[in-house]
Amino acid sequence: MEKLNLDKLPRHVALIMDGNGRWAQKKGLPRSFGHKAGAEKLKTIVRFASDIGISAITAYAFSTENWKRPQNEVDILMSLFSSYLTNEVEELHQNQVRIMFSGDLSRLAKPLEQKMLDAAQYTRNNQGLTLNLAVNYGGRAELVRAFRSLADKIATGELKSDDIGEDIITEYLYTASLPDPELLIRPSGDLRLSNFLLWQTAYTELWFTPLNWPDFTPQVLVQALLDFQARDRRFGGLKK
Ligand code: IPE
Ligand code: IPE
Ligand code: MG
Repeated sequence: MEKLNLDKLPRHVALIMDGNGRWAQKKGLPRSFGHKAGAEKLKTIVRFASDIGISAITAYAFSTENWKRPQNEVDILMSLFSSYLTNEVEELHQNQVRIMFSGDLSRLAKPLEQKMLDAAQYTRNNQGLTLNLAVNYGGRAELVRAFRSLADKIATGELKSDDIGEDIITEYLYTASLPDPELLIRPSGDLRLSNFLLWQTAYTELWFTPLNWPDFTPQVLVQALLDFQARDRRFGGLKK
């Protein structure tokens, strides 16, 4: 922790909270225990990240592909999102956390969707860490949505195709209010993006650990941040 340069933290960290099921199975427990432990871990990491001064975390909680899972697992995840919000919003608010969501919330049960919209509304003016929860999120679905909106604007004459550039596309994404993530962390040992932030991660530094998400700790986050700070980011240019 002493080696960490707090002036050079990534402003936006993307986090794929993966490995909950394997964590539980290793312990001989049902997968749902892993999801519960994963939700607890998010609380710990958000508190720590907010304390050290990270500005934003986008945490992948449920992908557009996760609907393929057995209905009872989907139900458990949805009920965990709901209790997370019920139990955490007030404390997050006290800590100046701004909650936002990326993903198509309209496919969720209405009371859950409403709870999410309420949490975002309630915390919208907070000046601390932005906690962006990616729920029913897919990078491709996000781009399809953006392109449809752009097509509509062209159809009504509000935009011309020549106006469309990288900045405009970025503005039509769920993450428009956030800078691109500088660092993406994926626990669980799987080395892929699984449809997360496809546009935004063009130059993101990727960091993987074999630990499952419930075994992740603030110390592991510090290690990821130290590794990030030691990397040479060239963006296609030459070494400084
Ligand atoms: C991540 O853990 C949580 C979600 C995808 C919702 P997993 O449930 O994917 O856990 P593993 O990858 O099967 O271990
Ligand atoms: C990615 O993990 C989605 C979340 C962590 C929410 P998955 O477990 O769904 O990804 P795959 O199936 O291993 O690619
Ligand atoms: Mg997984």
